[in-house]
Amino acid sequence: MKLRPSIQVAPPGPKAKALIDRDKKITSPSYIKEYPLAMERGEGPWVYDADGNRYLDFMAGIAVASTGHSHPTVVKAVQEAAAKFLHICGTDFYYETMVRLCEKLGAYVPQMGPKKVFLTNSGTEAVEGAIKLARYHTRREKIIAFKGAFHGRTMGAISLNASKVGQRAFFGPLLSGVFHIPYSNPFRCPYKHEKDWCGKNCECATQLETDWFSSHTDPKEVAAIFVEPILGEGGYVLPAKKFLEDLRRICDQHGILLVFDEVQSGVGRTGDMFAAETFGVAPDILLSAKGLGSGMPIGAIVAKEKVMSWPRGSHGSTYGGNPVCCAAAVATLEVIEPLLPQIRTVGAELMQGLRKLAQKHACIGDVRGVGLMIGAEFIDPKTGKPASTLVGDLEQMAFREGLLLLSCGQSTIRFAPPLVVTSHEVQVGLEILDKCLTKLAK
Ligand SMILES: Cc1ncc(COP(=O)(O)O)c(C=O)c1O
Repeated sequence: MKLRPSIQVAPPGPKAKALIDRDKKITSPSYIKEYPLAMERGEGPWVYDADGNRYLDFMAGIAVASTGHSHPTVVKAVQEAAAKFLHICGTDFYYETMVRLCEKLGAYVPQMGPKKVFLTNSGTEAVEGAIKLARYHTRREKIIAFKGAFHGRTMGAISLNASKVGQRAFFGPLLSGVFHIPYSNPFRCPYKHEKDWCGKNCECATQLETDWFSSHTDPKEVAAIFVEPILGEGGYVLPAKKFLEDLRRICDQHGILLVFDEVQSGVGRTGDMFAAETFGVAPDILLSAKGLGSGMPIGAIVAKEKVMSWPRGSHGSTYGGNPVCCAAAVATLEVIEPLLPQIRTVGAELMQGLRKLAQKHACIGDVRGVGLMIGAEFIDPKTGKPASTLVGDLEQMAFREGLLLLSCGQSTIRFAPPLVVTSHEVQVGLEILDKCLTKLAK
């Protein structure tokens, strides 16, 4: 059936309001709560709230509900695994779903060669583990990360972050030896080059050679470069391919490990299982989480076999690779593998639709991305500056019209729907977006 959003009660309705009131009294004030959505249940790309409203989900709970909400294959795998046993601790004992998941993950990105896998509970735990692994393996301390980066909320991860100051403020001292350099951004080139020039000639990585390694840091002290192959929280920025190729070359030249944080860009989102394949650039360590478990908490550190050289007992996790989560992840990968061609096709339709809207609405300054990881950056058409207020208003209005959006960066809407989204649903989303932008322009 071709569904559409259905708003029966202006949100937040009475049930949602009552829940929000209770939540406000007891939950941490650090939670963001983008808009008053109180979810009751979900199915595919559709979300139902406590008052019976139906929304089209174009953000998948921050790119997590990869197979859509409560995909029957994933739910069945979770139920069957839960009925067998909930825990035994993969750090200390053995079970089949853990091995199967690691085997599956080890088979992606074949350019990396033979691999070893460590399972975690979350993206940030994968980042922490990768920092430890990189330092252990190289016996070097320093780490290079990027302006605009987001890697999580634990101490190591926030030390690598540079997207919003509030994520770091007053939490120090943070990890020492972390340096941030500009990230390739063809729309807003840090060196002020034109979009086309920048895309082909990007110098963000090469400035490591031309500047940093001669004036600031000896590359022999650098353990790793941590990079999101597509910037997530920082604004869904698609970098120049040359940027990632240069990083690979520089790492090879200086014995530095290249770490791809694919927590947001992985598990089919780009139309390949990982963005490393999309760009044809293989990292030494690849991090996954978010979409991996369709919402069940699981992450992974996938490293070249020779890089994952830490010995027995040097790293572990009580819950990492929980058997129920492993079952969810195996089922998720099995659902997504045959879906990759459709992700590319539907993603291209969404991209085309957004580019058409950009011709009509001058406030859309840039549409970029790949597969179903697409960012639309909103600007003040007169000045070209980021239109943050407009993006906030758009998010709120779209919610009330039945479309769930989520912003990132200064003024970008990230389009990261469940990967099962269809052409019909994409067209419905675009219609609502058009309606909201027309209203907001008045
Ligand atoms: C690229 C990236 N890395 C790491 C994380 C942290 O993941 P988690 O919230 O599961 O700890 C995120 C979360 O948004 C992310 O986008």
